[in-house]
Amino acid sequence: MIRLAIMGSGAGTNLCAIIAAVQNDQLDAEIALVISDRQKAGIIAIAEKASIPTVHIDHEAADAQNKILTALRQSRADLVALAGYMRIVRAPIIEAFDRRIINIHPSLLPKYPGRKAWQQALDAGEQIAGCSVHHVDCGIDTGEVIAQQNVPILPNDTAASLHARIQKAEWALYPRVLQSFVESPISLGTH
Ligand code: GRF
Repeated sequence: MIRLAIMGSGAGTNLCAIIAAVQNDQLDAEIALVISDRQKAGIIAIAEKASIPTVHIDHEAADAQNKILTALRQSRADLVALAGYMRIVRAPIIEAFDRRIINIHPSLLPKYPGRKAWQQALDAGEQIAGCSVHHVDCGIDTGEVIAQQNVPILPNDTAASLHARIQKAEWALYPRVLQSFVESPISLGTH
């Protein structure tokens, strides 16, 4: 069993998938905290509905990174999973949670980091897109890749249809990777 903290800014569909995996005994974890930089984000509403503690931390606040770090420590999280967190996580947090912060990104990294990765793949004429779970470092989607899932690009795909197909793959991949951390013989260590 691991304690998870999840950080996001958006709809929270990956959080939904993670909650479902916990409920279905596919993921042996307790979701200890959800942090968002947006008070009205869907991810906050989903967490509240599932009785998961939430914290809103305004990104503009001067000490935002320290506030996040304090909240993460208080939650006693073993692992931090970014799920649509649209801000950069900076050094104090990355150092404190060394190799224990992961992210899901809608491309086959190292291809197409940054925003609207599915659109970038379409524009480049790719036939295969996908999603990646990777360690978080100080760059944007640059950390070491942990696992990937290919997703086909179909002839009539629009940005929306491709994005939807990639998201479906994310909902399967992310809980699976989180469970692999539970089962990993490599200790997550203490902090
Ligand atoms: C996902 O597509 C993820 O790959 C990207 O942000 C999106 C978050 O979606 N980093 P949601 O908030 O989990 O629905």
